[in-house]
Amino acid sequence: MGAEVVIEGLSKSFGKHTIWRDVTLTLPPGEISVMLGPSGTGKSVFLKSMIGLLKPDRGKCVINGVDIVRCSERKLYEIRKLFGVLKKSETEIRRIVLEKLDMTGLSGAEKKLPGEISGGMRKRAGLARALVLDPEIILVDEPDSGLDPVRTTYISQLFIDVNAQIDATFLIVTHNINLARTVPDNLGMLYRKELVMFGPREVLLTSEEPAVKQFLNGRMDGPIGMSEEKDSATLAAERAMFEAGHHAGGVEDVVGVPPQMQPTPGLPERQGARRRKDRVMRILHTLPEAARESIIASLSPEERRHYGVHSAGLVGAQHGVLPAGDVATIPEASRTQPIEFGTDDVTRGHTPYE
Ligand SMILES: Nc1ncnc2c1ncn2[C@@H]1O[C@H](COP(=O)(O)OP(=O)(O)O)[C@@H](O)[C@H]1O
Ligand SMILES: [Mg+2]
Repeated sequence: MGAEVVIEGLSKSFGKHTIWRDVTLTLPPGEISVMLGPSGTGKSVFLKSMIGLLKPDRGKCVINGVDIVRCSERKLYEIRKLFGVLKKSETEIRRIVLEKLDMTGLSGAEKKLPGEISGGMRKRAGLARALVLDPEIILVDEPDSGLDPVRTTYISQLFIDVNAQIDATFLIVTHNINLARTVPDNLGMLYRKELVMFGPREVLLTSEEPAVKQFLNGRMDGPIGMSEEKDSATLAAERAMFEAGHHAGGVEDVVGVPPQMQPTPGLPERQGARRRKDRVMRILHTLPEAARESIIASLSPEERRHYGVHSAGLVGAQHGVLPAGDVATIPEASRTQPIEFGTDDVTRGHTPYE
């Protein structure tokens, strides 16, 4: 099982420039988490801080019991060893590389020259390289950059498949709405120098928070502007323009929680997804109502019995805009079929991916 990462009150500034402050979240072991946020909100700085490449000013980042913000260089090195960074013999490395190339769908590509491989293959090769070290944590910075939507979906499937096979903890930073909506177990967003939210994906996907809603729909209408934030005068002027009928961009309001991508048939079930279900059901009563309803609606009849959710608990429940009567059948039908969906940098421990 992947390592748990516990982040508490983490703050980072460069000189007088605060990047983000008081970030608190836990990456549950073996689960996939995605961090959203407008450009320049410090997502890459966050990933670099998590692996000790940058030093936060305050707070903790505890991995396998060691706070990497405060520990000695020596301890940091030990943590990296715990994470499987070991010297391996050349034949062993070759065997592992071939095995990982196979895992990432690249077998037969080992003899290709760098100029002969496509963007998608380069990302796969980078992931294969990161996997050589048998990571417990995999950090991914903007996997969709430079890839078309279909290739991005294939890379997304690869993350799900790799997670199913090695149960590593993933944190993926992205702007890609499809990926954010269909890949992660947990979703968070950095905005205005703070972690706006972090939690089970259903929480952000059903959130009414204007910045979160705007980001997930990719529209101009909302508090996020061309530079990070709009002032109130701009916001009001734009609001009037959109109300008068100007297209705010984006396809349409995307609402509700789509089914999560599943491992390719034939691969093992994701242990992280199974643990997450137990975890989410334990904290269900602490979640906002819309998230709670969406989670309950996604349970199978067996799961409902297992978790002691009675149909009475569903009275008045809504899944997106569906009437209550459809709640039990719609998610049921869609959860059995995996949907067809999708690395500037994958970093593992301290090793940059590209
Ligand atoms: N090493 C650094 N020194 C000073 N400022 C930096 C450094 N790295 C990043 N920044 C600043 O931190 C902010 C956040 O950057 P970044 O993490 O790259 O944003 P994102 O990945 O969310 O687009 C930017 O304003 C950037 O200029
Ligand atoms: Mg970045």
